[in-house]
This record gives sequence, C-alpha cells and structure tokens, in this order.
Amino acid sequence: MQLKIYKDYHTLSSHAADKIIEMVKNKPGAVLCLAAGDTPRLTYKLMAEKAAREKVDFSRCSFIGLDEWIGIPPVNEGSCQFFLQTNIFSPLHISPAQIHLFDALNPDAEEECISMDKIILQKGGIDLMLVGVGMNGHIGFNEPGASFDSYSHVIDLDDTTRSVGQKYFSQHTELQKGITLGLKHLMEAREAILIASGIKKAEVIQKALEGDISDQMPASIIRSHPNSFVMIDEEAASLLQSKESI
Ligand code: F6R
Repeated sequence: MQLKIYKDYHTLSSHAADKIIEMVKNKPGAVLCLAAGDTPRLTYKLMAEKAAREKVDFSRCSFIGLDEWIGIPPVNEGSCQFFLQTNIFSPLHISPAQIHLFDALNPDAEEECISMDKIILQKGGIDLMLVGVGMNGHIGFNEPGASFDSYSHVIDLDDTTRSVGQKYFSQHTELQKGITLGLKHLMEAREAILIASGIKKAEVIQKALEGDISDQMPASIIRSHPNSFVMIDEEAASLLQSKESI
C-alpha cells in the first residue's frame, strides 16, 4: 500500500484524476469502478477536463457500479446512478452499452448480485477501483462486519450510513438497504485507490491505517491489497502516527 498525502483537497483530486487517466491511456479497454460520494466529485471534474484537453478516449472502457441504495430510482438526485451520470458519464460521453450498474429497483436483488458478479468475470475483472471511505469505515456499502470474502451482496445499512447518507438527498429519505460490490472485488481489482479528504475523515483514516486489519473496519483491508494507493489530504492524515507507505 502506498500512502500519498497531499496538501489539500484540490491537489489530492488532481492526482487521483491523473491515476484514472493514466490507466485509460495505458489500457483503453480498462474496466473501471468509480465510487459516488462527495469526496471524488472534484476528481471526476478534473478527470473530465483533462480527458477533453488531452483527447483521452474513454469509448472502449467499461464502467461497473460500486453500490446503490435499494429502492431509490436513478432519477433521484441522491442515487449513486444519478451521481455517476452527472459527474462521469455525461461529461465523458459514455454510451449506455459501456455502463453496468445495479438496478436498485429490481425486486430480486439477489439476481442483481449474481448478474453483476458475472459481468465482472466476463470482462476479466476490474482494472481500477477508486473508493471513498464512510465515517464508519465502510467501502462501498460494505459496512462494519461485512466479510472480506464477499462478492456482490445486499446489506442492511447501519445507522451511521443511514444518517450520513441523507446529505445526498434534498428531502429526508428512508434508507434501509444497500446493494454493493464486495471486498473481494476490491482485493481482486488490479489497482485499488482509496481517497479521503478533510478533518472529518482523520479518525477513520487513523483507525483504517493504524488499527487492526479487521472486518470491523472494512477500509483496513486496503493495507492487504498488493497494488493499492491511499491518497489523502493533510487534514485527513492529521491523526496518523506514521506517514510512511507500507
Ligand atoms: C459511494 C460509496 C460510499 C462513499 C463513502 C464516502 O458510492 O460507495 O462508500 O464512498 O460513504 O462518502 P463521501 O465521499 O461522501 O464522504
């Protein structure tokens, strides 16, 4: 795991954007899994700007959805799909055939999981997975206690995720369950990047990087990945005892 600490959110986002661009330049048919959320917003903006400036061709890439709120339709601005469409797919002119997301309205959510696992297998696995970290240490919707050995699954969201998740919605929204790729997908991705920014993430970053590697702190699994990068800003790094890569 390589730890990269940047002076601020903008610098972090610019370097994270460069990592995605670099992947696509090296492998135009890359399979990408990019998280939704507030943290990567600027990464994707800078990525789209850079892609346009440098004429980087995303037309052969595939996009795999990381997670979704069960029961929330894609037209809802708080859904992951809405986020990805607005921040990535529209700016990069990605065609629907390149996009593989969970259908959070499918009454058979287990079927969604099986079909997502199949798509990832058929595509030869994920090349680059970029994730954020929740206030409870979750990755995607792998909440504390989620097995390190899991592929796609449905989970009961924990209280932190239900309440923090309200920030994405314009009005109070009942959030009960999520559907998510598993931590095994993260471990099998050829490159895994975790980004975090701001003082509010300092405690969770300290626990994830310096506490036990445990399913109680899902983000800690990133330390076991053979090709991972933790890219954070100085505020998010402020409680770390050691600023060294491992
Ligand atoms: C979103 C996702 C979540 C977020 C995490 C951090 O697709 O998978 O795990 O990455 O909750 O969210 P922000 O970046 O809003 O702090």
